[in-house]
Amino acid sequence: MNSPLKLKGKGISRIINSRVIQSPLAGVTDHIFRRYVRRWAPNSLLFTEMVNASSLNLGYGLQKVNQLKNEDGPVGIQLFDNNLYSIREAALESEDSGAYIIDINMGCPVKKIAKKGGGSALINNPKLAVNIVKIISKAVRIPVSVKTRIGWSNEDKNIEDFLLRLQDAGANMITIHGRSREQGFSGSANWEIIGELKEKLDIPIIANGDICNGRDAIECLKITKADGVMIGRGVLGAPWIIGEIDSVLNGCKNFNIPNVEDKLNLLIEHIDDLVEEKGNHGLLIARKHISWTCKDFCGAKELRNRLVRANTSKEVKELLLNKIDFLKNNNYSQNQLR
Ligand SMILES: Cc1cc2nc3c(=O)[nH]c(=O)nc-3n(C[C@H](O)[C@H](O)[C@H](O)COP(=O)(O)O)c2cc1C
Repeated sequence: MNSPLKLKGKGISRIINSRVIQSPLAGVTDHIFRRYVRRWAPNSLLFTEMVNASSLNLGYGLQKVNQLKNEDGPVGIQLFDNNLYSIREAALESEDSGAYIIDINMGCPVKKIAKKGGGSALINNPKLAVNIVKIISKAVRIPVSVKTRIGWSNEDKNIEDFLLRLQDAGANMITIHGRSREQGFSGSANWEIIGELKEKLDIPIIANGDICNGRDAIECLKITKADGVMIGRGVLGAPWIIGEIDSVLNGCKNFNIPNVEDKLNLLIEHIDDLVEEKGNHGLLIARKHISWTCKDFCGAKELRNRLVRANTSKEVKELLLNKIDFLKNNNYSQNQLR
């Protein structure tokens, strides 16, 4: 079930020994978070957050590209822009810094991005979308991919033509989120449409949307016949999920899912990393991870409420360590903890 993913680039091809990919998630998949995902997923392709190519050329966000130099496994960068010059320069810079592949965002529904002609707006501007793929694939040697949706609206009849044109322009892989731009994140992902589109295309197709565990991944691969799956929201509060799904696809039955104590220790470690690198801002970022982690166990809500009100990382750590002690002293078994 888990054959390698082969991506053909113009000069350099990539073989990835996992069909499970971690999606680009703005505000989440920074280099610190990716380090945690990597612990359980040594072979998987992980993505950066989306990076604005124009601001990169102005010098902003350069650290996101430089961080690619220190990754322990395959990491692709996702770029967005509607400016051909900027996106080409950003792609070259990313390739030089060690990006495993370059992905172009053609699916983001956020108004701020679509209004400027980037992200999902490119679905309605195939000419520009094609030119972006062409100019990048001509410039870099590594594979170039696109992440998009099943259309602007659910009635969009042009998506097949759009994807074929991107393939002809040089895209080496396409990820399809099974929702339309109009749907945003509502409703459910349509895996059947992804399967119909997969049949028409020759390059690797990655299915995305509503895949949260190994069972979903198996079902989605059965329906879509896709070459791989991409996991987005499933990693929030669960950085091991990419590795867990990968091990399910490999037929392995004894993946060690972290228990609550492990999860809380992991959160402490993550907060330490964030605060060490970003100071007080790190604590603000940590709040999101606290909310995603502190759920589905006894006393989680109360702990979460106290943690997000804490003003210093010392306070946060004390609360977490107290909870871990409480769980230990009360002899909670692994099952009770989950
Ligand atoms: C917090 C958050 C940030 C996201 N950021 C990006 C992004 O930077 N680039 C992108 O292509 N998609 C982004 N997405 C969309 C996801 O990558 C993914 O396509 C979508 O969540 C559907 O997959 P899922 O059901 O596995 O979450 C984001 C989604 C969320 C929830």
